Amino acid sequence: MGGHVILRTDRSEGRGKVAVAYRDPHKHGGMNLTSQKLKDLLNAAIAREVQVSVQYMWQHVQWMGVDHYAVSDKFRDIAVEEMKHAEKIAERLWYLGGVPTTKPAPINVGGELWEMVDNDIKAELEAISLYKKIEKAADAEADPTTRFIFEEILEQEEDHHDFFTSLKEKGKKK
Ligand SMILES: [Fe+2]
Ligand SMILES: [Fe+2]
Repeated sequence: MGGHVILRTDRSEGRGKVAVAYRDPHKHGGMNLTSQKLKDLLNAAIAREVQVSVQYMWQHVQWMGVDHYAVSDKFRDIAVEEMKHAEKIAERLWYLGGVPTTKPAPINVGGELWEMVDNDIKAELEAISLYKKIEKAADAEADPTTRFIFEEILEQEEDHHDFFTSLKEKGKKK
């Protein structure tokens, strides 16, 4: 969130002192037009992004133990994408005057491999449903930027859903 830090050089004392001013959008008004409902939805999104980034990363570790290395790498890649989603949504929420949650939604790594994939399909379906809801809420509050952020994220969640469902199909044929 480097964009929120403003560095000022104070030359009045000739020592080149650098003062760091934290631009807190919560104190600057202007962005208080966002409803609590939309902020809560963004926090629900952050909670589930943090959930799945841990869920998929730990699944990546467990898939490595069996003969599925290629699949295991894909789990890690998706975990990293989910963490980037969390970052993006948290930045937006902060800008809108909210405080990002640190609590993930319940993490369901799963035991048996195909049980893991079922958990992941479920998580992606939940994301898709929640993000469509957020797009509608953003529209209702005339907030095209939030809508745009979720359009981009939603496209990736659909790719993840497609990956997990195809993986399940392939698994069944074996
Ligand atoms: Fe995500
Ligand atoms: Fe996803």
